[in-house]
Amino acid sequence: MKVIKANLYDYPKYYDLLFGSDWKAEFDFLRACFEKHAGRTVRRLFEPACGTGRLLIKFAQAGYEVSGNDLNAGAIAYCNARFVRYGFPPNALIGDMADFRPRRKVDAAFNTINSFRHLASEQAARRHLQCAAAALAKGGLYVLGFHLTPRGGQTCDEESWSARRGHLAVNSRMRSIKVDRRRRREDVTMTLDVYTPTQQFRLADKFTFRTYTADQFRRLLDCVPDLELVETYDFAYDIMEPIRIGAETEDVVYLLRKK
Ligand SMILES: C[S@@+](CC[C@H](N)C(=O)[O-])C[C@H]1O[C@@H](n2cnc3c(N)ncnc32)[C@H](O)[C@@H]1O
Repeated sequence: MKVIKANLYDYPKYYDLLFGSDWKAEFDFLRACFEKHAGRTVRRLFEPACGTGRLLIKFAQAGYEVSGNDLNAGAIAYCNARFVRYGFPPNALIGDMADFRPRRKVDAAFNTINSFRHLASEQAARRHLQCAAAALAKGGLYVLGFHLTPRGGQTCDEESWSARRGHLAVNSRMRSIKVDRRRRREDVTMTLDVYTPTQQFRLADKFTFRTYTADQFRRLLDCVPDLELVETYDFAYDIMEPIRIGAETEDVVYLLRKK
């Protein structure tokens, strides 16, 4: 199969097919979080690093006022084209999740599936949380989901997904190839195998995530006193099952509320 070295986020159509089908559990969970944990009614939302807007479009269709940003121009173009196609304003902007300010304060913001870990430094991560805090109205909620690197125990080092729409099929595999806990870097490879009736090819990407132990994230959070930690869940997205973070916990959804 032909292999093309690529930034996978430059292929929003394939990305959205792969992850877009997974929206329902996250969507239902986020709504349940707004209901249960926000200190205000949630109508207006912002998603930093929104990508193709696979979740934002569902919230727009459910009646929320939505906006977001992402560094990737192709993802933003895809996101806005879909907003317009469905009759919504093109409210996604090209921008950095470490430097954002929505036009009006929002009732809730969310950032799931590890996007936060793309921020390479402590300073950028802190700025991200400060921007989230500044973007929220009092009582507003920030839902932040990512993988911790447990102190002991085995990390889950491979994940795969598949999706098909009509004649297009995409299989994806993400592998953790090296974790450097001291420098707080996890090198990851990700491939998308794309099958159309006329061609087959593999897109191969390599990127680095910042690593977090529970204590490292806790210390970061302490630097942003406007946000209080109100609950933790995991990627099972079950609002009835909060979790207690332990030495082996990997996937966590932190619920942070603006004081
Ligand atoms: C795993 S994707 C998630 C996209 C979307 N949030 C979703 O749930 O489908 C991560 C996204 O983070 C974006 N990204 C990475 N670094 C960024 C930054 N500093 N600011 C804004 N977006 C960033 C990438 O372009 C990509 O679209």
